[in-house]
Amino acid sequence: MSNSSRYIDIHCPYKPLVVGRVPAMTADEAGSAVLSAERAQKLWAAVPLHERAGLLYAWADELQRMADEIAEFIMLEVGKSRAAALAEIERSADLVRHTAEEGRRLGGELIRGDAYPGSKPGKTALIDKVPLGVVLAISPFNYPVNLSVSKVAPALITGNTVVLKPPTQGSISALLAARALHRAGCPPGVLNVVTGRGADIGDVLTSHTSVRCISFTGGTATGRAICRKANMIPVILELGGKDPAIVLEDADLQLAAREIVSGAFSYSGQRCTAIKRVLVAEPVAEPLIELLRCGIERLRVGSPEEQADITPLIDTQAADKVSNLIREALDEGARLIIGNRRDGNLIYPTLLDGVTERMRVAWEEPFGPVLPVIRVRDEEEAIRWANASEFGLQASIFTRDVQSALAIAKRLEVGSVQLNRRTERGPDHFPFLGIKSSGLGVQGIRRSIETMVRDKVTVLQE
Ligand code: NAP
Ligand code: G3H
Repeated sequence: MSNSSRYIDIHCPYKPLVVGRVPAMTADEAGSAVLSAERAQKLWAAVPLHERAGLLYAWADELQRMADEIAEFIMLEVGKSRAAALAEIERSADLVRHTAEEGRRLGGELIRGDAYPGSKPGKTALIDKVPLGVVLAISPFNYPVNLSVSKVAPALITGNTVVLKPPTQGSISALLAARALHRAGCPPGVLNVVTGRGADIGDVLTSHTSVRCISFTGGTATGRAICRKANMIPVILELGGKDPAIVLEDADLQLAAREIVSGAFSYSGQRCTAIKRVLVAEPVAEPLIELLRCGIERLRVGSPEEQADITPLIDTQAADKVSNLIREALDEGARLIIGNRRDGNLIYPTLLDGVTERMRVAWEEPFGPVLPVIRVRDEEEAIRWANASEFGLQASIFTRDVQSALAIAKRLEVGSVQLNRRTERGPDHFPFLGIKSSGLGVQGIRRSIETMVRDKVTVLQE
């Protein structure tokens, strides 16, 4: 609730429908949410770890019980197919359970002083892992539940309290996930959800002196702005990408095409980890492009309610951006293989060949269903193209030669390299990170837990 009596209507991205409305909280209310989290934190940290884990297990069960209801809202708010929305809930429940298990294993450390020359005999450091305090979690529209839960769960298991600022488009789904936590028995003040436009309340939250850690997933520009506002605290950023699929001459082209089509076009390309360019060795470019074309032709385009693969983008601005990238590339000489049709915010899956370095589509993240193909002479040129990007999230290499794949992987400036598979975040207990403009810090269940605690050292003298 907000005292401002102002609300934001949430419009469905694929049909004329107001899905619901959420309070447009004021800056003061956002500040109060942080203070509420701060007040609750010490009590929460004092709850025995196995009980905090118990709450997470109960949350996972509740998420599954509410799966149909939450999935319906994910579909309506962000235009994800019902099956994909249900998969998001299932994945979130798994993540919460695994976080509870992993969190229970987080122990401290004991370091003996006599291992260091000159140390007084009998000195011992006990290193405990203690919570940071209030964690500010900010999530994006494309996984409104999963990317909220993946920040909230590690914060709670480690004894932090949370202020969650969900994406406006996706707020209702995130609020339902929060309701699941409250039904599971979460004490008051431990999770505080703040709705409202990031542009209006973001600064108050990110610069608040009681916030002790920020975990953000979203666009690179927003991430940079948050970094500038933050108060000398740990900031974890998962940002945009321009993940390349490098296809070498000896690759299994059928496999490569299958993985690339799925990697580039699932959820209409609205994934940070989507394959966003293909760097293919010239001798196999023609057969690969034909296989990609066939794969794209088979994608179903339409409404998420009909289980389409390609659905309308989140808003008109997003669709305009993709259309412009395609139009400019074609004007500059790219060859259209398939696609370049638009119906409102629905952009048909588009494959472009002959993309050159002058074209914006070679460098920018479209966050939509367009895939540029760049033909390269050899591995060296592929690596040069891959590393010339401002982004460094993930890359895929398709080849039958594992040695050469490993050698290339070593030289790619990205967080993760996938061999003969599409780029993707999961499984969620793997470390997940971006470098350069793709992020700061590491997520993945274990790493997220470690980020949300600090050492507390007590030195004993015998
Ligand atoms: P976004 O516009 O950056 O928004 C992300 C979140 O930040 C939303 O909750 C948004 O709130 C909030 N926000 C906006 N301005 C803010 C401010 N000044 N201070 C604090 N918070 C603010 O990103 P998006 O459009 O939701 O997602 C698309 C982008 O996210 C793409 O670039 C994509 O690659 C990236 N992404 C990256 C990952 C990853 O793991 N690397 C995962 C998903 C998405 P409002 O909704 O109210 O504006
Ligand atoms: O959009 C960014 C997400 O972290 C990507 O997750 O690879 O499981 O789709 P995903």
